Amino acid sequence: MVTDAYDQLSAQGFLITRVKATPLVGAVARPPAPATARPPAPPPRFDLSPSTPEIALFPARDWTEALVGAIRAAPVSALGYGSPRGEPALREVLADHLGRTRGVVADPERIVILNGAAQGVILLAHALSGAGATRVAVEDPSLVSQPHRLRMSGLEVAGQPVDAEGVTLDGLAADAVLVTPAHQFPTGAVLSGPRRRDLLTWARQHDALIVEDDYDAEFRYDREPVPALQGLDPDRVAYLGTASKTLAPALRLGWLLLPALAGEAEAVKHLLDVCSPALEQLALARLLTSGA
Ligand SMILES: Cc1ncc(COP(=O)(O)O)c(C=O)c1O
Repeated sequence: MVTDAYDQLSAQGFLITRVKATPLVGAVARPPAPATARPPAPPPRFDLSPSTPEIALFPARDWTEALVGAIRAAPVSALGYGSPRGEPALREVLADHLGRTRGVVADPERIVILNGAAQGVILLAHALSGAGATRVAVEDPSLVSQPHRLRMSGLEVAGQPVDAEGVTLDGLAADAVLVTPAHQFPTGAVLSGPRRRDLLTWARQHDALIVEDDYDAEFRYDREPVPALQGLDPDRVAYLGTASKTLAPALRLGWLLLPALAGEAEAVKHLLDVCSPALEQLALARLLTSGA
């Protein structure tokens, strides 16, 4: 019995045993800290970085209740590998929510749940390039990492200037254009009515896809949020959304709604990370259903 216990502790690395030697407590090997390592900088008193919401306001109690409720209610099968498209329960309530709050025309079957909207750009880029696209335009300026995500699939990326009415259209030539109509990132401009119409006309005339990044659309302090562009032409506009602003970036929950190529995006999602975490998806579905 005692030797079994020693064997067990030794197998788990807690003890180092040698024949006829005193057992020693095992130490965990760690690489030596680099000589130049500096102590971490203290967090800033005011964090004004443009892409982070006020995370101190995260509704921790509501989220915890939703997560616990989701775990209690979930069938055992929810703990297996889920659909790359996402949990049906979330896609269903999200379609309603987006229709109500953003004027989005959403078929739950065309929604892919993501690990953040950032992942949606990668899925779209792969799906577009697989379908023969070669050139994509992005707003200039834009989130600096977006062009890099698009280039991962070998797409050529062109910057399209932005003015006070949002993205400009002069010289726009691409198979798809990634835009932030509700709240241009980082300038904050709203895509004007005439520009919206012209952008949709351009897309129809050039058989191009508009990718609407609706990141940040929920928060406006100067006017009512404008409805999503997607609602004006659901066949021309792919829609990207995220919980990073309304809840927290750490959740890594986003969604992509596609007029076409949903199967291709799903296949890439499966290759990348199989599916997004199911319990968090179910918790978000509960928050949306309860209204919390
Ligand atoms: C314009 C824009 N779109 C998308 C994202 C990424 O959102 P997510 O956290 O959902 O990946 C950011 C993040 O800063 C952003 O600024």
